Amino acid sequence: MTPLNGTTAVITGAGRGLGAALAITLADAGAQVILCARSEQALAQVAAIIAKRTGQTAGQVIVDLADNTSIKQAVANITAKYQHIDLLINNGAMWLEASDAPHSEDEIFGTINAAVTGSYLMTQSLLPLLKNSKRPDIVTIGSISGLPNAPLHSVSVPFYAAKHAQAALASGLQQILRDTPIRSLCVHPPYLDDVSPEDAAWEQVSERQKGEQATNRDICEAVLFAITRPRHITLSSIVVDSDSGGLFG
Ligand SMILES: NC(=O)c1ccc[n+]([C@@H]2O[C@H](COP(=O)([O-])OP(=O)(O)OC[C@H]3O[C@@H](n4cnc5c(N)ncnc54)[C@H](OP(=O)(O)O)[C@@H]3O)[C@@H](O)[C@H]2O)c1
Repeated sequence: MTPLNGTTAVITGAGRGLGAALAITLADAGAQVILCARSEQALAQVAAIIAKRTGQTAGQVIVDLADNTSIKQAVANITAKYQHIDLLINNGAMWLEASDAPHSEDEIFGTINAAVTGSYLMTQSLLPLLKNSKRPDIVTIGSISGLPNAPLHSVSVPFYAAKHAQAALASGLQQILRDTPIRSLCVHPPYLDDVSPEDAAWEQVSERQKGEQATNRDICEAVLFAITRPRHITLSSIVVDSDSGGLFG
């Protein structure tokens, strides 16, 4: 099935993990993908997988979401090559675990700037290309840590704050884009097993039982489902909780 034939999708943090799985899934579904990441080598590896599976040449754009100059260059590169984009997935965000020792300044700036400032700058700068699309969507990858009153568990306060802010960005965008065709939605994953569509484990995900950890595949399927809904509705907030008592269990 190729429900995304003819569409173009930008994915940040696409060099590994969930971002790479999303890019491969979207390419399998027919989208032309533009992979954004900090590492040229990681981009090339994901592009090679996509070429092998679909025959497409994926776009590759270097971007450090914590660096304004890098974002400007990345947006200029995308704008120079593409007239429209149909989907922007704000997936890139720095993970920062809780620690008894103080976090370094770089960790704090990196965590908040990449997820919040960088994702918003990227989104704002790509709005003109999204406005040229007939089916534009912005998908923010949040976290169950970003839900109201979520417990911290093993998450640092800067990461917790960044994920709450990302949920607010998605909601704020939905409000300011109300009178446009652009939908904004946020998917909140729980802790994930990092499986790739290239792994045998990808096929086995559908056999998992209640209480087992969620995976990248579960999030890719939620995103694909949300963006292929008829355009009169927006699945504005999707919480994917692996059911071992849920987030608050
Ligand atoms: N995995 C989970 O359990 C889980 C749970 C809830 C939410 N999430 C969210 O899902 C998304 C992907 O998570 P993941 O587990 O695949 O990755 P991750 O291990 O959390 O790594 C972060 C991702 O963001 C990118 N990134 C980090 N800092 C960046 C920066 N300054 N500029 C550009 N890209 C940057 C990384 O790309 P590089 O290759 O450039 O480092 C990587 O793709 C994130 O938003 C994460 O918060 C993940």
